[in-house]
Amino acid sequence: MGSLVLTSALTASQATLGGGEGPAVNITASNDGSEILPLSTTGYDNNWGPIIGEENAVLTSPPFVPAPITRNHATKLIVDLEVLEFTAPIADGVDYTFWTYGGTVPGSFIRTRVGDVVEFNLHNDPSSKMPHNIDLHAVTGPGGGAASSFTTPGHTSQFSFQVTNPGLYVYHCATAPVGMHIANGMYGLILVEPAKGLEPVDKEYYVMQGDFYTEGAYGEAGHQAFDMNKAIHEDADYVLFNGSVGSMVGDKALTAEVGETVRLFVGNGGPNLVSSFHVIGEIFDKVNVEGGSLVNENVQTTLVPAGGSVITQFKVDVPGTLIIVDHSIFRTFNKGALGMLNVTGPEDLKVYSGKQDDRIYQGEGGAVQKVSTAGTNEIPATRDMAKRMELGKRGYEANCMACHQANGAGITGAFPPLAKSDYLMADRDRALNIMLKGLSGKITVNGTDYDSVMPQMVMSDDDVASVLTYVLNSWGNKADKVTLSEVKAAKAKNAGGH
Ligand code: CU
Repeated sequence: MGSLVLTSALTASQATLGGGEGPAVNITASNDGSEILPLSTTGYDNNWGPIIGEENAVLTSPPFVPAPITRNHATKLIVDLEVLEFTAPIADGVDYTFWTYGGTVPGSFIRTRVGDVVEFNLHNDPSSKMPHNIDLHAVTGPGGGAASSFTTPGHTSQFSFQVTNPGLYVYHCATAPVGMHIANGMYGLILVEPAKGLEPVDKEYYVMQGDFYTEGAYGEAGHQAFDMNKAIHEDADYVLFNGSVGSMVGDKALTAEVGETVRLFVGNGGPNLVSSFHVIGEIFDKVNVEGGSLVNENVQTTLVPAGGSVITQFKVDVPGTLIIVDHSIFRTFNKGALGMLNVTGPEDLKVYSGKQDDRIYQGEGGAVQKVSTAGTNEIPATRDMAKRMELGKRGYEANCMACHQANGAGITGAFPPLAKSDYLMADRDRALNIMLKGLSGKITVNGTDYDSVMPQMVMSDDDVASVLTYVLNSWGNKADKVTLSEVKAAKAKNAGGH
């Protein structure tokens, strides 16, 4: 089932390097119905020809993808992608503060052809509180663009790269704390079509999974903040397709007609979980394994790594509702990983004879059982100043340095300085509480305003005492050492909070 004929609109053509008079076009596929083009016919296909002209990339929001590329040459492709931070429903009655590329989770879909030189413009909206950047897995080069794209609110970064390998690639934010930026929704997909294009299909959709960590359990109403502790322990409250519970159900379900061939571009942003991607009631005729050139056939469930992708393709033969799931199945029925593809058209009782029912796959509800994480740290021996400083330096380098920098100077416009910080040194209890509970909202440090988010630090009471001692006694700062009993007292005072 599902061998498709190449249609004339998308007939494969290949530019060849020749003579300097522009690309010669060779029609390489016949219309006899015998030829199937996988993502790449040659594995690594570098026959992309010269760069001709330029165009602005069409970007789409999930579940939609830009139209297939019909040009038979590489071009300069200009991408403008805007980072937007905002609060929106993650489920009915539950709000979450998302960080996004293009205003959606996952971010805008980018479609390129192999050989294209992409001029990438990353805009960070002036209303953002955080700096962001982008690491595109389609980039060959250090950081995948991350180092070239660090962008503070109200700024634009520009860099360019050539897409050299056909495939479906994840992009994501790589600004510290990296896990938190990804957990808040900063990921998407960039497709690099092979020179001959993809096999034509009837419908193409964009589906991307992500796991979310909230202070409240699944379904707990109100605004739910990101929970660093749960993220570190990979204890997800929500596992979602396209950023919210119900993103592809009811009138937002994907659609197809009987007899059509559907292609799903599937990504997994993580940050932590691997997806066992499955469509209940369907078999994938073809899967581009891990988004690359290897095509598997007749697949029931395909793995999508965190930071990875697959392309699945299947012909729908009978009407009904197909259910898109992560077959790690508690995620589907208890954490939100459920989408729908509604297929309409005539019955084919030979292929499937039976009663159809759209209601049977509704979530079962019920909250995820909460595991107590109450700490029971042993009290270490009393530590002198030198020991506190030694342990504190280690803890600082592991937890704080990515943002506040090795010299405590921070990053202007993004992360406030700790070195000679009037805000830090003015209130020791406040500093201790910020380490225990995190900090968000506007503060003024040495005359400069900062409005960003510091996550709650997940470290032992002993480490908190050491790190704060180190911070209060480095880079020109001077204070008494912080004791374990001070930390415990502050925690006791906060008891009843998180
Ligand atoms: Cu970011």
